[in-house]
Order: sequence, then structure tokens, then C-alpha cells
Amino acid sequence: MKTVYELVIEGRAYVKGSIANWCIGIEDGKIAAIAKNLRGDEQLKFKDQIIFPGAIDPHVHFRDPGLTDKEDFATGSLAAAFAGITCVFDMPNTLPPSISKASFLEKKEAIAHKSWVDYGLFAGCVPGADLRSMAPEAVGFKLFLGSSTGKLLVTEEKDIQQIVTAAAETKKVLSVHAEDEQLIGKEPARNLAEHMKNRPPEAEVAAINKLRGREGKINICHVSSAAGLAALDNTGFTSEVTAHHLFLDKESAKGTYAKVNPPLRTREDRFALMKAFMDGKIDMLGSDHAPHTIEDKEQEFSYAPSGMPGVETSVPILLAMVKRGQFPLPRFVNAVCERPAEIFQLNKGSIEIGKDADFMIVDPGRLEAIKVKNLHSKCGWSLFEGFDALFPQSVMLRGQLLIDEGSIAGERAGKDVVEYTKP
Ligand code: DOR
Ligand code: ZN
Ligand code: ZN
Repeated sequence: MKTVYELVIEGRAYVKGSIANWCIGIEDGKIAAIAKNLRGDEQLKFKDQIIFPGAIDPHVHFRDPGLTDKEDFATGSLAAAFAGITCVFDMPNTLPPSISKASFLEKKEAIAHKSWVDYGLFAGCVPGADLRSMAPEAVGFKLFLGSSTGKLLVTEEKDIQQIVTAAAETKKVLSVHAEDEQLIGKEPARNLAEHMKNRPPEAEVAAINKLRGREGKINICHVSSAAGLAALDNTGFTSEVTAHHLFLDKESAKGTYAKVNPPLRTREDRFALMKAFMDGKIDMLGSDHAPHTIEDKEQEFSYAPSGMPGVETSVPILLAMVKRGQFPLPRFVNAVCERPAEIFQLNKGSIEIGKDADFMIVDPGRLEAIKVKNLHSKCGWSLFEGFDALFPQSVMLRGQLLIDEGSIAGERAGKDVVEYTKP
């Protein structure tokens, strides 16, 4: 063990499943030592605060390139950082969509040096796409079995099988938007009730059943219904849930702002999702941050796009539940840090020697009500206004302070995780 580390942070830290006083020694952006006493060239003390691993959001839509009036990688990643998220995985329904090696590299180029936090990029699956050529650069693949924002959609059995097989060969995760296109109603919806009717839980169930028994690392995004949950049984698939499907339902939702795919469901559905999430039956929290502008959402219902922002609010709302004793702490860390790192094989997600020194540092006394005016997404709205939340006071990315006492401290040093972990 060294005698003096580049940096030592000190405080109550979540290490090996419990919170205790620790010193964490950091060298070259990685955790180099964890002990009761350590010396550093620089020493940072977080008195009365709790040091958690940085959170990982496996599902965001930052709209860069091509749709940057809605969001760009700088604003989206800043919003993530303020939530304690130190790594995001961005979806391929950008413009152009990332569906070929060329368009994928174009996206990488467009967003390089823009991100406040580390990131991975999903490559999109379309019939005939050359997954193998994109695999070395991609954190995973995204397959839409039902149409949503953008034009990525695969419906033919032969194409689905080809994609699943190719993704399995690459050993990367295949994240799936699981709504079966054949069961989605095509009459234009005039209101939320019609939107929900057009996209029933049966569409989710059918899409999950379609994948049952297939090879590879299949991950079901945004599980939205009790029926969808039941369909996941004995599939071996990993899964995500969003904060909007956990905390909002068709009774509480209003208008185009709550139009999202898959739709919000009933109270019973969301309670079933919360129970499954608490029990670890749903692995991860994925925000599905889909920032549409107010102008887009103010259109007539059938034209208004689906999706809502969530990257800055999801983790802090769940953390507030932990603080109030309504959600188990170990499961919180497991869902937002450990499981995403395990599933996507990142050297992140826990406070352990050798892992990236990414932390969210939380003062448990600072519960607050969410105010849209304090959020950092370009879109400028949220359905979570007024919800209780616990935002981290400080955030560290690979040993550098990104947020210090609630203000931006660092610079945009986010890196592509696939790039820097390449063997
Ligand atoms: O509501 C949604 N919005 N669902 C999706 O699958 C895509 C997302 C978006 O990109 O806007
Ligand atoms: Zn989706
Ligand atoms: Zn999505």
C-alpha cells in the first residue's frame, strides 16, 4: 500500500453493503485503497454526508446529433450529473439514426468532448444492419419491436432472428423496446385514454413472448405493466423500469405531456412494478429521458411526440424514498449502480479497489421539492414538479469534482466507456 495518495476522500461511505466511516484513496481516477485512515496530497472531507458510487442510467435520449433543439449531449449530461449520474447510455434514434458504422462514427464525432459524464452509445438495429461492424464501438444494441419516436422498427421474424443472433455473437446487450407492432392500434389517438388503448399491455406481453427462449443478453426496457412483468418470468432477460411508470399512472397523468411509449398504466400496474423493482425482479432504473420541447408537446394530441424527461429526477426521487425508509438502501445502490455496471460490464458501480472513482455524495438532511426552474435539461418541463427529491451535493467523475456543494465545479471530461475500457 502507498503511504500518500493523489487524493483521499473521507466520510461515511457505502462500502460492501453498508455505510461506515472510510477513507478512499484515489490514483489516476481509480479507487486505489479503502481504509480507516489514509493520507493524500489532497484530502477532501465529507462530514455528515454519505458517499455512494456514481449512478449509471442505462437509457437516455440526448437527441445529439440532429435534434439538438430538444437536447444536446452537454445539456443532457449536465442534467445527469446533477442527479448523481456519472455514466449514461444514449439511444440511437438521433438524426441520422446510428444504424451503420458510418452513422455511428458520425455520432461519436458529433458528441466528442461535449459530455459532463461518461457515456456509452447504443447502435440501432434495422433489417440488414451490420451489427458486427458497429459492435467494437457500441455499449449495446437497441431494437424497437414497436414504433415510437424515430423510424427504427423491426417487425419481420427473419430480421428479428438475424439481429438477435448477431447481437448474441458480439456478446453485447440487446436492449429492447418491447411493444409488438402488430398489437398497436393505428387509429390516431385524440387523447391519453385512446393512446393507452392503442398500446395495451398485451402488446408488451406479446413482444416479450416473441423473444422468449432466444440467445444472448436480452434486456427489456421500461417494463410498464403487471402483465409484462409476469411475461418476464423464467426468460432470463434483464430489465429496466422508468420513474414515470413507477410514480405516475393514468389517473394522475394529463394531456400530451404524459404521452409516452409504452403508456402509463393503472395504479395496480405501478404498484406491481414497484414491488418487483424492490425485490430485484426488475434489475435497473432507466430514465428513458426523452426531452421533447414544450412546443412539440403543445401540438394537437395525435401529433405530439411520445416521451418525457427524467434523467435529472429519477434517481433523486428514489433516493428520497430511501431516506424516508420506503425503499431499501442496498436495493437502491444495486439498481442504480451495481446492476447496470454488471450487466454492461463496466468498471464502475461500486466502491471497490480498481473501480473508477465515481461518486455521488449526499446530505441526507436536504430533502427538497423538485422545481423545474432548477433543472438543466433544455426541454424546460417535468411531470415531477413538486415531488420530494434528494439531490447529491457533490459529484465526482474519475476522481475529479464535477459538482461541488451544488454548483458545477469541473469541466466536460466525460469519456466513451467503450473506448477507454477497450482491451
Ligand atoms: O415515449 C418514448 N419516447 N418512447 C420511446 O421508445 C422513445 C422515446 C423518444 O425517443 O422520444
Ligand atoms: Zn423505448
Ligand atoms: Zn427510450
